[in-house]
Amino acid sequence: MALLPILRFPDPRLHTRAAPVTVVDDSIRQLIKDMAETMYEAPGIGLAATQVDVHKRVVVIDISEDNSGLLALINAEILERSGEQVCEEGCLSVPGIYEKVTRAERVKVKALNQQGEPFELEAEGLLAVCIQHELDHLDGKVFVEYLSQLKLTRIKSRLAKKARITA
Ligand code: NI
Repeated sequence: MALLPILRFPDPRLHTRAAPVTVVDDSIRQLIKDMAETMYEAPGIGLAATQVDVHKRVVVIDISEDNSGLLALINAEILERSGEQVCEEGCLSVPGIYEKVTRAERVKVKALNQQGEPFELEAEGLLAVCIQHELDHLDGKVFVEYLSQLKLTRIKSRLAKKARITA
């Protein structure tokens, strides 16, 4: 296993649209292992392949308290959305920034598992937020891009300042 470097907003590579996985093979299973390790180490509750500069439709999520609930979604698609919830979100690619985003309360998703088999999943609450947030990454969208232009400009300057201090 290996820790993967995480791209930081506003890195333009975060705006890449990920391609579907054509074959779920050992290289994809290894990618999932490495992404999970990277997510747990960060620590975070979700990571999309886009964030580690791999532009394939793979995400890992674990909202459990003890890292016991790893969910890997390959080629996930949201089939249904319903309701609305506002959740304060953060992102490993936008460190230290937490902002409220409005999303669907419930989603129904279809995806492939690590054996390449299709499955469906219904999620609500935090898990639904996390799935929507991670799938956005695969379409090149970072959560702060839901915010106003003014807020986004402030966030960019905060991150730039932080990068100068830690560089
Ligand atoms: Ni994120």
